[in-house]
Amino acid sequence: MELFQTKENLGISRRNFIKTTTTGLIATASVSAVKSSMAQNNRLGVGIIGCGARGAHLSQALKHIQDNDKTIQLKAFSDIYKPRLDKLADTYNGKKYANHHDLLKDKEVDIVFIATPDHHHAQQTIDAVNAGKHVYCEKPMTHWRQWDLAKKMTEVVAQSDRVFQLGTQGMSDSAYRQVKKLIQQGKIGQPVHIECGFFRLGDWGERGMKIDDPNAKPGPDLDWEAFLGDAPKRDFDVSRFFRWRMYEDYAGGMSTDLYPHTLTPIVYAIGVKFPSLVVATGGKLRYEEREIPDTFDMLVHYDGKIDLILMGTQANEYQGTALRGQNRVPVFRGWEGTITIDGDDIVCWPANALKTQNPERIPIEKGENLTDFIRNFVDCCIRGDKNTMSPIDIGLWVQTTLIMGMMSWKNRKVAMFDEQKGITFS
Ligand SMILES: NC(=O)c1ccc[n+]([C@@H]2O[C@H](COP(=O)([O-])OP(=O)(O)OC[C@H]3O[C@@H](n4cnc5c(N)ncnc54)[C@H](O)[C@@H]3O)[C@@H](O)[C@H]2O)c1
Repeated sequence: MELFQTKENLGISRRNFIKTTTTGLIATASVSAVKSSMAQNNRLGVGIIGCGARGAHLSQALKHIQDNDKTIQLKAFSDIYKPRLDKLADTYNGKKYANHHDLLKDKEVDIVFIATPDHHHAQQTIDAVNAGKHVYCEKPMTHWRQWDLAKKMTEVVAQSDRVFQLGTQGMSDSAYRQVKKLIQQGKIGQPVHIECGFFRLGDWGERGMKIDDPNAKPGPDLDWEAFLGDAPKRDFDVSRFFRWRMYEDYAGGMSTDLYPHTLTPIVYAIGVKFPSLVVATGGKLRYEEREIPDTFDMLVHYDGKIDLILMGTQANEYQGTALRGQNRVPVFRGWEGTITIDGDDIVCWPANALKTQNPERIPIEKGENLTDFIRNFVDCCIRGDKNTMSPIDIGLWVQTTLIMGMMSWKNRKVAMFDEQKGITFS
């Protein structure tokens, strides 16, 4: 499932995002381990865990950085399915590991990129940090049943001196840093109502996932137990293995696959943390064969101050307004005005917008770019700077919100959050 991946995303001029990076749980940390490794070969060694569609796409962007910046070197690959491991490792002439623990023991690997199914992200991040590696982990932070693990992952990263970036590349879009600044400057007064969404036609990310080999079976080339990890034990099923996004043991649909892209930059821009209340509706309104919803709407409330509506379906891709990635452009309404996006401009309206002919238009400095996003992470690893563009604390606030949405929908209850009690339902 490729999101926001265009040719333009890969051919890239170098930009320094560092001055504008986001909040971090813990400030600058030591990088002595990295420096010693770099001293040997002058480059950071990269390992890829998960050699499927996303692992291949990340490798392509990393190769671009390897060839142009010469700061990194693709060194090693890991996958529990040998044909994919062979294909990707051979493409980049890397070492092959059938098990991620063995890749993590490799002293030539300084940074790992985790691109396995959702339910492995947290444990593999913890394993990697404990092995002394910096981590770029794909979104979502965890599977929706793993809130305790999401908290543990956050603690482990925060208590270490390792650099972490969550793979929500929309955080590289300067529009959100600009909107954040405008809101902080009081452009719309107190933000009160946010509208956002993700609309797509087709479930090519789930039912449409490719089955490489319909006769594949567990054995020396396919480690089914390692695929399951801590998910419920089940007999091997070729569809579950290749099309894991259809099943709720490994995925959550719109909410956990697509909404991290939508919600993460918004949580950053408006400066909220955990929500106080989430309620969600939705279901399989078009694609019956899957277990997870194709249409999902969430109402999120923050602290008696801000309401946020996050909506989406995979049954119709009409955005309602200009396209930005595949996200519906967000609308930020405040007491004094409204901010939205139109093409390459941020547009600011006064609260009495109906009486306004000419809203203020502010050009967006630079749109989303995966290679620059990864480059920012690599730069942070080199400097030992934990303030990456997509740090783990924002990841936890967003993941908690999305988990509350899934739980609200499944339980048909309102999900509430309290720092002391955690997530409860009524
Ligand atoms: N940021 C983005 O825009 C974006 C885009 C696509 C995918 N993703 C994320 O990347 C992740 C992978 O998605 P994908 O589309 O590449 O899936 P995929 O099925 O194509 O690839 C996953 C790979 O992980 C391997 N794997 C499974 N368990 C493993 C384990 N324990 N150790 C090592 N390898 C294991 C599988 O064999 C498979 O090759 C997902 O979590 C998804 O949300 C992010």
